Amino acid sequence: MATAEPQACRSGSVHDTRPRIAVERVSRSFQSSTGEVVALADVDLTIPDGQFCCLVGPSGCGKTTLLRILAGLARPSSGRAVVRHDDPRRLAHSVVFQDYSVFPWKTVRQNVELPIRARGVSKREAAAAGREWLRRVGLVGFEDSWPAQLSGGMRQRVAIARAFACDPEMLLMDEPLAALDAQMRLLLQEQLLALSQEEAKTVVFVTHSIEEAILLGDRIVVMGARPGRVIADIEIPFPRPRSPAQVRKEELFGELHEYIWSLVRGQVEDQLRLDKATS
Ligand SMILES: Nc1ncnc2c1ncn2[C@@H]1O[C@H](COP(=O)(O)OP(=O)(O)OP(=O)(O)O)[C@@H](O)[C@H]1O
Ligand SMILES: [Mg+2]
Repeated sequence: MATAEPQACRSGSVHDTRPRIAVERVSRSFQSSTGEVVALADVDLTIPDGQFCCLVGPSGCGKTTLLRILAGLARPSSGRAVVRHDDPRRLAHSVVFQDYSVFPWKTVRQNVELPIRARGVSKREAAAAGREWLRRVGLVGFEDSWPAQLSGGMRQRVAIARAFACDPEMLLMDEPLAALDAQMRLLLQEQLLALSQEEAKTVVFVTHSIEEAILLGDRIVVMGARPGRVIADIEIPFPRPRSPAQVRKEELFGELHEYIWSLVRGQVEDQLRLDKATS
């Protein structure tokens, strides 16, 4: 049974700009050895420009499938997903996955400069911009290292710097901090929060951490499994710029956490019951 939604979240969306993303009745099925898997069923989701939208939900509820559709890497079986692309000189999106989206055969510097050069920027300007991005994610002194010589957290910082350095119109992130240890994750949450506030980009961010979603997001979309669908859409009312330390102190932080966990927990329990029944 879900606990009551905190009052402060019921005011509706504060964002009224043209949508960056419009997902309309999107369904996606896969054929597996045991029959058809409905990964997404009739998902509707509108994401305005500049919004940091987090997707949470139990394993297998279709979060990655939805992100892949937004990235143009997969197609809906039915319905449509429209992603606005305003400036053909810029990338519509860049994607960061859990497993370090970096080129292992390029140095840290090259990994970050490459997407900047790809925008037609001169070598000199790209070098300066690359240096600045590496400074912003705390990698000064590691410019000439190879990804294999870095810790997991450092590699992921390269991936994040790369994604921002592309200057895409939108960022799609699939559990980008999931593989990190707890301390590194806290640190990168802070960096990601700071970067996203400075850049004001549209971000779709998948995470299993409800705390992370509340700290970073303007909005949390909770997905339910079997079939994957939207079961709740919650506005996060903490004003920006915000810091994780500030947000954690708010009474509403605990209330939101409890409420969202009660929703996700119900889905996880349903899924366990279904798994048991079909095993
Ligand atoms: N290429 C595929 N072929 C067959 N089934 C697939 C394929 N991709 C995804 N699925 C199935 O679709 C469902 C949703 O998968 P998806 O990876 O989108 O879930 P998820 O929410 O990202 O899960 P997790 O939190 O574990 O990453 C799962 O049941 C999965 O097995
Ligand atoms: Mg996934």
